Amino acid sequence: HTYVAIMAGGIGSRFWPVSRVNYPKQFLDILGTGKTLIQQTFDRFARFIPAENIFVVTARDYEDITKEQLPQLPVENIISEPFRKNTAPCIAYISFRLQQRDPEAKMIVAPADHLILDEARFQEVCENALDFVSQNEALITLGIKPTYPNTGYGYIQHDDAEEATNVYRVKTFTEKPNRELAETFIASGDFLWNAGIFVWKLTSILNAFQKYLPEMYEVFAAEESKYNTPDETGVLEAIYHQCTSISIDFGIMEKANNVFVIPASFGWSDLGTWNSAWENMEKDYLGNACAGKRVMVIDATHCVVHAPQEKLVVLQGLDDYIVVDTKDVLLICQKDREQEIKEYTAEVKRNM
Ligand code: GDD
Ligand code: MG
Repeated sequence: HTYVAIMAGGIGSRFWPVSRVNYPKQFLDILGTGKTLIQQTFDRFARFIPAENIFVVTARDYEDITKEQLPQLPVENIISEPFRKNTAPCIAYISFRLQQRDPEAKMIVAPADHLILDEARFQEVCENALDFVSQNEALITLGIKPTYPNTGYGYIQHDDAEEATNVYRVKTFTEKPNRELAETFIASGDFLWNAGIFVWKLTSILNAFQKYLPEMYEVFAAEESKYNTPDETGVLEAIYHQCTSISIDFGIMEKANNVFVIPASFGWSDLGTWNSAWENMEKDYLGNACAGKRVMVIDATHCVVHAPQEKLVVLQGLDDYIVVDTKDVLLICQKDREQEIKEYTAEVKRNM
């Protein structure tokens, strides 16, 4: 059977001030579509995977929000982690959990906070990947045609010969390169962005953990008999204390020699920043994108407004601004200086 693991434990710091540690990006309706990102992610998979085979792995602190936002998801499919240790432990844990239930399982692992416009195409690509992994010991990732040297992504270079329909063997996987390297990758025209959506057999990923993150593998394997028992919560804290914090990309995808990529285009955005939100939102004829209960825009252009409060927000004469109004923080920031938002949050933490 096929299972989906939605990873939803991150903190989404670049979407401050709406994204907070206690209510991060995946649980917000960033685009003003009426659905939060995790709800959109769940729906995207529920088109072709039954809800009882969809799991959400998240921090214990987000268990209640997850229940509230995904009433169709069986509660026992919410898998809580005691601490945030990045995506490798998250994937190790869900893999060991699934092994008890269905050792023959195939898995799709996906982030909770991305936008995918063409859901039919997305489903086709997933099915293509699932076909390939049933025949091969492959770790598949989906690759996106890059547009600029973003240093927050993984970069993939693949062989030219097709292994199967649209499946290519990966030659190099470089997670979060520095600026210079990212520029070289983009200039060469030979690289794809890693979408962070993975497809594999359970046995293949467990083998990869054993080989590339053996200590982590052992820590999880040692307590295998306790999963799904009343002892699990206590045991898990001890396990997570012992785990190093590392992403699946650095821990496994960069190192493994059985990584394959499917180049795909289904209108993907990781909605990393307010600008990418603006690009993906509906805009008025002056290019303003507004998500909010009551927003009035007068002679403003190319602004992105996020105002989920009851309060009326009126914008006049602004060009290229981000305006975000939350209960306790009002942010007004030039769109082309959004990278600095991270720095403000650090400053805010020091002073408040
Ligand atoms: N359960 C759980 N626990 N989930 C987590 C944790 C954790 O400790 N840390 C992160 N996540 C979730 C996030 O909520 C997100 O949905 C997903 O895992 C990916 O984590 P990010 O922190 O957003 O990763 P990234 O954006 O820096 O990089 C990844 O995605 C890029 C594409 O958006 C990598 O896979 C890159 O290679 C890739 O290009
Ligand atoms: Mg991300």
